[in-house]
Amino acid sequence: MPVLGMLRADFAEQRPFAGLTIACCLHVTAETAVLIRTLTAGGAQVHLAASNPLSTQDDIAAALAAEPGVTVQARSGVDRATYYEHIHRVLDYGPDLVMDDGCDLVNTLHEDRAELTGRVRGGSEATSSGAARLRRMAVAGSLRFPVVVAERSAIGQIVDHKYGTGQSVLDGILRATNTLVAGKTVVVAGFGPCGSGIAERARGLGAQVIVTEVDPVRALGALLQGFRVLPMSAAIPLAELVITATGSRDVLSTVGFAALPDGAMLANAGHFDVEIDVAALAALAVEVNRGVRPYADEYVLADGRRLILLAEGRVVNLVAGEGNPAAVMDTSFAVQALALAWLADAGGERAGDGAATVGRVLNVPEEIDARVASLTLASLGTRIDTLTKEQRRYLESWRQGS
Ligand SMILES: NC(=O)c1ccc[n+]([C@@H]2O[C@H](COP(=O)([O-])OP(=O)(O)OC[C@H]3O[C@@H](n4cnc5c(N)ncnc54)[C@H](O)[C@@H]3O)[C@@H](O)[C@H]2O)c1
Repeated sequence: MPVLGMLRADFAEQRPFAGLTIACCLHVTAETAVLIRTLTAGGAQVHLAASNPLSTQDDIAAALAAEPGVTVQARSGVDRATYYEHIHRVLDYGPDLVMDDGCDLVNTLHEDRAELTGRVRGGSEATSSGAARLRRMAVAGSLRFPVVVAERSAIGQIVDHKYGTGQSVLDGILRATNTLVAGKTVVVAGFGPCGSGIAERARGLGAQVIVTEVDPVRALGALLQGFRVLPMSAAIPLAELVITATGSRDVLSTVGFAALPDGAMLANAGHFDVEIDVAALAALAVEVNRGVRPYADEYVLADGRRLILLAEGRVVNLVAGEGNPAAVMDTSFAVQALALAWLADAGGERAGDGAATVGRVLNVPEEIDARVASLTLASLGTRIDTLTKEQRRYLESWRQGS
């Protein structure tokens, strides 16, 4: 992770987090460990809980917990109560900054530990579903500090969601099924950055891809990129593999299960396990054969059809695979680390529009995106052009026309 490596060297010199406590709720993976070391190099005390018990790598949790300046509250496979207990334990340290992935930590902070919100300077949120929850909190006037959301950064959309998630979701599905994608009809629900990346990668493997959407602009984009666009009800009878990436719930539910062909595989790429109504599927099934392969459960319906649910309907690339490749997390975490440093500094009190940031959901400042892109290009040995003085003057002027 060369970009975080470069930031770590900078942070070690500039100490942007000297004396500050950061509470994190993130997937406990090797890549996250590199991020945590970057933050501690900047002077932070870091307390880490897992943002999804199924993605926790116990060896990483143990190794990190042994590092100076870090505590870890995470174990693979814990139940819901323990999951929230871990979040409470990291909040016990009274954070100055928070880093979240799905908004469970920020939500717990506001709902149950409101007395701690006063000292929080701000936070960062990694994923779209978490950003959506934060926006609802901000609209309701409930958010007590600024949160920078990574999802709308250029880096987040292009590198992480489109290329990272696009690739790793297919990778997770292949690991869970070892299926041949070529020639299959794959239905991708949702054509946001994640869904569009998944659709492109599935097409690249030779699938016939159908996209379902509720947003006309996104649906048009999918159509113009050559995908077939159908309502879910029309796509379902054709589907051999359905992948949900909407951030919404019940995208596949009872009606859909009733019409899916025998042997159809169902996978979710969305952050929360609500996109496929697993309870409704279980209620329809007369038999459930768990673990026909690791991370693949077979649900046998009354008419004999078998539906294969991958990763229990949870985020398939993290559960059945290893999540985004390290190169992707390198850029995504670099954006979030710089956003936290910006919030730690007084600069984070005013957004680009000059207005106060308290209680607002903020996009990543453009200069942070540009810096991370430059560092990434440098790490790849790719050089680009710079504007000449004349070009810059021309682009800044409104007097020169035809
Ligand atoms: N698996 C991962 O590693 C990973 C990485 C990043 C984000 N995510 C998650 O993936 C999900 C999608 O992320 P995104 O950035 O593409 O979000 P997005 O909100 O930009 O796009 C989601 C799209 O789904 C569409 N949609 C909503 N409800 C729908 C429905 N019922 N049927 C069809 N389409 C519907 C929306 O119109 C939108 O275009 C989120 O839950 C996000 O948190 C997962």
